[in-house]
Amino acid sequence: PTRHHRIAKPVDIFGDRKNADGLDLSQIATQTRLEGVIRALKPVTAVPCTASKVATQPPQNFLSPVDAAKVGQATDIKPEAANDIVATAFKAYPAWNRLGGHVRADILNRLANLVEDEMEHFIALMAREAGKTMADSIAEVREAVDFCRYYANHAKDYFGDAKIMPGPAGETNTLSMMGRGVFICISPWNFPLAIYLGQIAAALAAGNTVVAKPAEQTPLTAYVCAQLIYKAGVPKEAFQMVTGDGAVGGALVAAPHVAGVVFTGSTEVAQLINANLASKPGPFPVFIAETGGLNGMFVDTTALKEQIVDDVISSAFNAAGQRCSALRVLFLPEQTADDIVKTLKGAMDMLTIGDPGKISTDIGPVIDHAALGMLQDYIGTLPKSLRIIHQADVPDGYEGGTFMPPTLIQADNLNDINHEVFGPVLHVVRYKDKDLPRLMAEFASKGYGLTLGIHSRLEGFARRVQAAVPAGNIYINRNIIGAVVGVQPFGGRGLSGTGPKAGGPLYVARFGTEVTISNNI
Ligand code: NAD
Ligand code: ALA
Repeated sequence: PTRHHRIAKPVDIFGDRKNADGLDLSQIATQTRLEGVIRALKPVTAVPCTASKVATQPPQNFLSPVDAAKVGQATDIKPEAANDIVATAFKAYPAWNRLGGHVRADILNRLANLVEDEMEHFIALMAREAGKTMADSIAEVREAVDFCRYYANHAKDYFGDAKIMPGPAGETNTLSMMGRGVFICISPWNFPLAIYLGQIAAALAAGNTVVAKPAEQTPLTAYVCAQLIYKAGVPKEAFQMVTGDGAVGGALVAAPHVAGVVFTGSTEVAQLINANLASKPGPFPVFIAETGGLNGMFVDTTALKEQIVDDVISSAFNAAGQRCSALRVLFLPEQTADDIVKTLKGAMDMLTIGDPGKISTDIGPVIDHAALGMLQDYIGTLPKSLRIIHQADVPDGYEGGTFMPPTLIQADNLNDINHEVFGPVLHVVRYKDKDLPRLMAEFASKGYGLTLGIHSRLEGFARRVQAAVPAGNIYINRNIIGAVVGVQPFGGRGLSGTGPKAGGPLYVARFGTEVTISNNI
């Protein structure tokens, strides 16, 4: 367990008293203090964290998706600097690897404590830079801390002492694990702290040196975290962070001496990186990709309406639908569909959309104007088989931000739903019992396999859906988001990723390589 409770339980001046709505007063006091921290946030200036000076672009201002106010400034590197940065990491690899799993575990545990101590700063920064709500940011900092501690344990278990293997008399057989060399870590903007740090922590735990490139939309959170990585004791050559767009990511992947790439982001970019790696001469680099999903939830007539609606609302619209795990297609039986959709519309109208820096906000903005434009284009040019049946309202006063109203779309069939639409857009498909096997097969044939939801009180129904629709993470009678490190190892199949699962027992091992020594001295 992490030291999570620091946020949940501040100085407890209210005991277990509740307000008129039954909300915990001590929690409200913490959240009110957090609102102040968010308002008082100072601009961050992010510069490349490299071991020596590199060629850079002119600095750029970062404006909040909430209200277009300045959050900070970042200086990207030029793609041509990539080779030198990777060469430095390559030279630093033997020393970092030699430290061994126990020492690296101590460093990662120190890092976990430092991140936890900065929790309020990260919450404020993610609210402003990425438009994350307080609840989402608290969960994200916890996840980042959990990744560090969980992978620290694996640094010890896998990369600590050599394992003694059986063998004939006189011969000693051992199996040791070590790093591979330089890992390039490329992360998305939707988890600017947890996924960014999770990748780095795993690669470092295994003994690799790292060059990390966070998403171009969220360099500031990444920069603040990079300073903590150094403070925890990782040398400047063993961990470097550069900001920049896809061209910088492409140049890092293409650089000589890359032993592995860990990528989280869209399926399309993963395919580009895979092709880039495949065209390189030299040894085979490892590629770990966690990508998008076209995630479904299948409901039968035995499921409980209120539970379905609650879980659909959080799965589809939490984080403005900007989670790879988010629900995209809801399958409802025709017998109960009208009633469920009516309640769902009512629940959408109850959502508070607005400034994520306020306690009461459920849904913040989408990440930027490009994302908003893509979503508006999508719902503005729907084919005949899809039609909007409901939209929540964005209140007045948020015109300066990139707010997308949660949107419900009725789909007559699955022909025109083929790709992830990354935002608060949910498709509903009504089915007749006799059509369910065909619909499940059609949905499976889209090729994704990330999350899957099932709502039913019948084991048989749950088993049928699981068998027909491939997914890496299956959730029965609950929402389909928010996997917890070490509890729900997370990652998909097919177009949704290569595995192994982040936050699972096999993840860190994939970043390393094994050596067997048979000693007859
Ligand atoms: P994206 O693919 O556009 O970008 C991800 C990262 O790749 C960024 O850092 C970007 O700069 C970099 N990049 C872009 N082109 C590149 C190239 N040619 N070579 C190397 N790097 C390149 O994704 P995004 O918009 O930042 O994030 C949203 C996507 O991430 C969604 O599809 C979502 O489903 C997915 N995601 C998946 C998971 C998961 O665990 N499966 C988790 C979070 C997000
Ligand atoms: N791991 C994140 C979730 O489960 C993406 O929602």
